Amino acid sequence: MRRLAWLATAPLRIRDDPRPGYAAALAARLRSPHVELTWMGRTGLHAVCRALGIGPGDEVVVSAYTCVVVVRSFALLGASPVYCDIDPATFNTPVQAVLDAITSRTRVVVLQHTYGLPVRVEPILAACRPRGITVVEDACHAFGTTIDGRPAGTLADAGFFSTQWNKPFSTGFGGFLAISNPDLAGKVAAAMRGAARAPAVRTLQLRAQLLAHEAIVTPRTHGLAQAAYRWLYSHGLILGSGTPTEAAGGRYHGVPDEYFQGMSRPQAEAGLFEAARFDAGIERRRAVSAVYAEGLARAGIEPAPSPPGTVYSRYPVRVRNKQDLAREAMLAGIPIGTWFETPLHPIPLARHPDFGMDPDRFPASLAACREVVNLPATLATTDADAERALAFVLRKGRLA
Ligand SMILES: Cc1ncc(COP(=O)(O)O)c(C=O)c1O
Repeated sequence: MRRLAWLATAPLRIRDDPRPGYAAALAARLRSPHVELTWMGRTGLHAVCRALGIGPGDEVVVSAYTCVVVVRSFALLGASPVYCDIDPATFNTPVQAVLDAITSRTRVVVLQHTYGLPVRVEPILAACRPRGITVVEDACHAFGTTIDGRPAGTLADAGFFSTQWNKPFSTGFGGFLAISNPDLAGKVAAAMRGAARAPAVRTLQLRAQLLAHEAIVTPRTHGLAQAAYRWLYSHGLILGSGTPTEAAGGRYHGVPDEYFQGMSRPQAEAGLFEAARFDAGIERRRAVSAVYAEGLARAGIEPAPSPPGTVYSRYPVRVRNKQDLAREAMLAGIPIGTWFETPLHPIPLARHPDFGMDPDRFPASLAACREVVNLPATLATTDADAERALAFVLRKGRLA
């Protein structure tokens, strides 16, 4: 309710551009020397690749358990992905697999902190630095996670974050880059000066969607609201995280705006509201993850790993009836997630070869896509919501 009131009245109260203040709040929080605000998370990776001038003939090492938009961010520039399968226990790419994937053509290595579980960054950085390879953390799930006391997303040359609807905190769509490498920071800032500005119609539409989301979506209505959202989006009636072309795995001609567009005012207004409750969100996500870990252990099921500093944004559990369970959860009003449904989520397996992937070569990723459901871990998730979601999975899930 407070957020709804804030979003509705922000344009009246915030006369000055809210973006510099939001960027400063993020930089302070992350102890980052340079933050760039972006229209979406993918925009950050695209901006880094563009700033580095990568293109045809260059390779980017990336997880085989990710979103297709991550791969598109550099494939749109002509670079080729080299995939690494995940460790089934952590959903992250093992150090050795990443090192083995590096060739003389590698320009960028992307390290994804899946669900908020930290991936090992230091040994990869140590191998990449002398070879002039840029290391970028995909911290889209990992706002709040720390590694040896340092915020995930700030250990490598740069880290990109997403603040899309389902992320650790949300500005509708949105993202930002934390850049630790000063040379790269200058290049990205220069590249972003050439990025598109969101057209007024889009900005208005986003403002309206933020208000509608705030008024309608609760943990209980989440599943049905998401189904309605997907329907409206697939019919071109609202702004989505891309286009129906994106979801189907179709080809783009040129670079679509969402890959190279700066942040709009309503996104930064929403971000400023969230900045005041970052700690509360992180504390809540930790608390519900503890509810899940204890409940699973009591039921004799191995909980997800939790190395120090982990803050889950979705808590993974493996089941053998993922699709049925997700459908039943939606009807029962339990916000169970399905990240990821295919190795290059959400496109169908049949389209993976278009992105240079033979899914059969990545058995751990395929198994996770078949089995993993995610229990909610947001600021809005109460202990009672968490217990209800866990009880539902324990009752209805055929636990793997
Ligand atoms: C791991 C990961 N990386 C990147 C992204 C892209 O974020 P955005 O949709 O804000 O571009 C997502 C989106 O869900 C994601 O899950």
